[in-house]
Amino acid sequence: MMNDTFLRACRGEPTDYTPIWMMRQAGRFLPEYQKVLARHDFLTACRTPEIAAEITMQPVDVLGVDAAIFYSDITTTVVPMGIELHYEKGKGPSYPNPIRTRADVDNLRVPDDPADGLAFVYEAQKICARELESKVPLIGFAGAPFTVSAYMVEGRGTNSFVEFRKLAFSQPEIYSILMDKVARHTANYLKAQAAAGANALMLFDSHAGLLGPGDYAEMNLPYVKQIIADIKSAGVPVIYLPFAQHNSLGSIQDCGADVIALDYGFRLDDAIEELGQHVSVQGNVEPHALFLPRDKIEQRVTATLKAGKGARGHIFNLGHGVPQHAPVDNVKAMIDMVHEKTQAKAA
Ligand code: CP3
Repeated sequence: MMNDTFLRACRGEPTDYTPIWMMRQAGRFLPEYQKVLARHDFLTACRTPEIAAEITMQPVDVLGVDAAIFYSDITTTVVPMGIELHYEKGKGPSYPNPIRTRADVDNLRVPDDPADGLAFVYEAQKICARELESKVPLIGFAGAPFTVSAYMVEGRGTNSFVEFRKLAFSQPEIYSILMDKVARHTANYLKAQAAAGANALMLFDSHAGLLGPGDYAEMNLPYVKQIIADIKSAGVPVIYLPFAQHNSLGSIQDCGADVIALDYGFRLDDAIEELGQHVSVQGNVEPHALFLPRDKIEQRVTATLKAGKGARGHIFNLGHGVPQHAPVDNVKAMIDMVHEKTQAKAA
């Protein structure tokens, strides 16, 4: 039988202990991952079902987390729309022909069949679902349309996304066509992941903080709501990460997500109070706290558990991804601490 503690917390049901998983748990800090990536490049690993499935399951076996997140990337999803993706080691993903003009957006397709160009994802997820059946739930994911569009217009990850922000304000028509197409494609992609076996779906809005709260409410959130409303029929919990959008919880609380993932910039207890009792929360330890001595890590865990108590459901996580050089033993220790401290209370 599957350990469904994570799913119960997503839905706000009682749990025997506080579940924990970590963003970027399927990644570079794990020696087991590095071994696989020494033999295959990143995009080949993402696009080969057996390899993607193997990497997805590594943290479940090595770390003892309560959920697996599917190994893939937010930048791979939109390739079937008709944009070329490159990956260079050390530099990350890039689109060599970024979207800048009306003709560029008009040429983007929204494939009717979500398997068109992405069949490898669902094949990998079927393998994961089979292997995880007696273990833990699988989280499928996509980038939120604002974050993915930022990449598509800029062409690569930057700190400021100047080209994208210029386009969003100077060419609102191009912006809204792009956002709408990416949103529709993303909803189809997420529903197909649930059909392939994903037990929960997460939307990463890693660049949500590029807009102030008023513009975020007008230019970003409506598309997130559109996707969540569309994927509700899949019947699995939805998690939304509005990274660095710190003054918008009042409007985010009714976006339709079951769980709001909070980054390390939030005060967890205040955010919970603002969000209220109709959503669960996920988060939000400072990722680099993994470099602290063990007793200090324990203090952070205790404080985060205490702050999370007021939530309808609390899924313990970092406030962003596991840093590349995080000591594996400290990651394991944090996971064990969360389990031990909360199990003891349940008993
Ligand atoms: O463990 C997991 O979280 C699952 C897999 C996952 C990856 N990327 C694997 C990956 C997930 C959920 C993502 C999401 C993602 N990708 C986001 C949103 C989350 C966030 O971090 O805010 C973003 C912004 C990206 C875009 C991206 N992918 C960048 C900027 C980079 C290069 C820099 C970096 O952080 O590594 C990637 C590459 C990437 N995605 C790696 C992994 C494991 C590193 C690949 C390698 O060299 O081994």
